[in-house]
Amino acid sequence: MTLRTPMTFASIEADAGLLAAVALDPPGVIATIKESGVKGRGGAGFPTGLKWELAAAAPATTGCRYVVCNADEGEPGTFKDRVILSEWPDLVFEGMTIAGYAIGAAEGVLYLRAEYAYMRPALEDCLKRRREANLLGVGIEGEEGFDFDIHIHMGSGAYVCGEETALIESLEGKRGEPRNRPPFPVVAGLNGAPTTVNNVETFAWVAAILANGAEWFAGIGTERSKGPKLLSISGDIERPGVYEFPFGITIADVLKAVGGENAQAVIVGGASGQCVPASDFTRTIGYEDLSTGGAVIVIGPDRDLLDVAENFQTFFADESCGQCTPCRIGNVKLLEGIRMLKRGECSEEYLKDLMSLCGTMQVASKCGLGQSSPNVFLSILTQQMSAIVNRAPATN
Ligand SMILES: Cc1cc2nc3c(=O)[nH]c(=O)nc-3n(C[C@H](O)[C@H](O)[C@H](O)COP(=O)(O)O)c2cc1C
Ligand code: SF4
Repeated sequence: MTLRTPMTFASIEADAGLLAAVALDPPGVIATIKESGVKGRGGAGFPTGLKWELAAAAPATTGCRYVVCNADEGEPGTFKDRVILSEWPDLVFEGMTIAGYAIGAAEGVLYLRAEYAYMRPALEDCLKRRREANLLGVGIEGEEGFDFDIHIHMGSGAYVCGEETALIESLEGKRGEPRNRPPFPVVAGLNGAPTTVNNVETFAWVAAILANGAEWFAGIGTERSKGPKLLSISGDIERPGVYEFPFGITIADVLKAVGGENAQAVIVGGASGQCVPASDFTRTIGYEDLSTGGAVIVIGPDRDLLDVAENFQTFFADESCGQCTPCRIGNVKLLEGIRMLKRGECSEEYLKDLMSLCGTMQVASKCGLGQSSPNVFLSILTQQMSAIVNRAPATN
């Protein structure tokens, strides 16, 4: 997949971040990460420094703590983690090692999407080289007591396994189903031990922050969305690929860069994101407005938005783990509703029922999959209600 803009990761000196980290004590590393303002790049945007602080403070009753890198990357339209792991695996492993030092973990796991199995030999080679260079193993960088190693665990091939508690279940050899929270993984995660689960890109930025300084990172982006963000941009555009932009960029500017100025809508955040109409292209990418784990899908002028909604809804109906009713039944009902709308067989009254069902799914589903699965349907219908209802003579 093509890299379309210069990437900061390419300019980071190898292992400068790890060296800077061991020059500090673990609380000093956590303080640096907090000062940088970096938030998790996996989509939810939880502050990374705070997550690590909680994991470091939680009692390690089983005698260990864990660092888990979420490389499940199953969100439709997201492919930036694949690029990071192919181009800069050292940076990701370095960030995980820094996390191990910061929270007092001796073991790290890379949970690698099943479809990325082809990458595993290169990643294992990278880990081997790091062990030989004493960047993993016992007494890393000559620091007595700094022992940390990483192994790779192949994902189970389900989208829900990217949800951090389902991922932990899967790592423990069980069916990948989300857990009730609390307790959160920072308190009781893998094997009941305090665990930080972070996205691939988050770990790479951690290494960059330690190398270049918290101030450098905090100087990029906006008040609540610090730093640069990698976006996987696809759809009806001239130049699909992976781009790096500072947070706060407008959709209009993104479209100019990718050759998609004639778009009718842009879906920010993948299948569980928001469908933004052309009238709102001054909106910005960042936690203040449109947050995204990295997926930006551009919808050209000739597409039927109901086809887009049907495509995503089919995905959710297939990928729901089935544990809770709002998600298991709700996604099937929404899919049926979209098909009724396409056939012109959905009354305005039934459409209102479907929209109310979306609200129920958002509040009553157990995990982020069910909670966010109605987003695209809702945003399309909110924009296009009159056009859709006009082509839908009320028959039921
Ligand atoms: C259904 C579902 C799938 C997810 N898939 C991923 C994924 O593939 N990669 C990822 O980093 N986070 C994914 N997440 C978010 C994780 O639960 C978690 O928030 C994230 O790994 C935390 O890392 P961060 O704080 O660095 O963003 C998913 C969440 C849900 C609800
Ligand atoms: S919301 Fe969906 S995916 Fe999440 S636990 Fe419930 S059924 Fe499973």
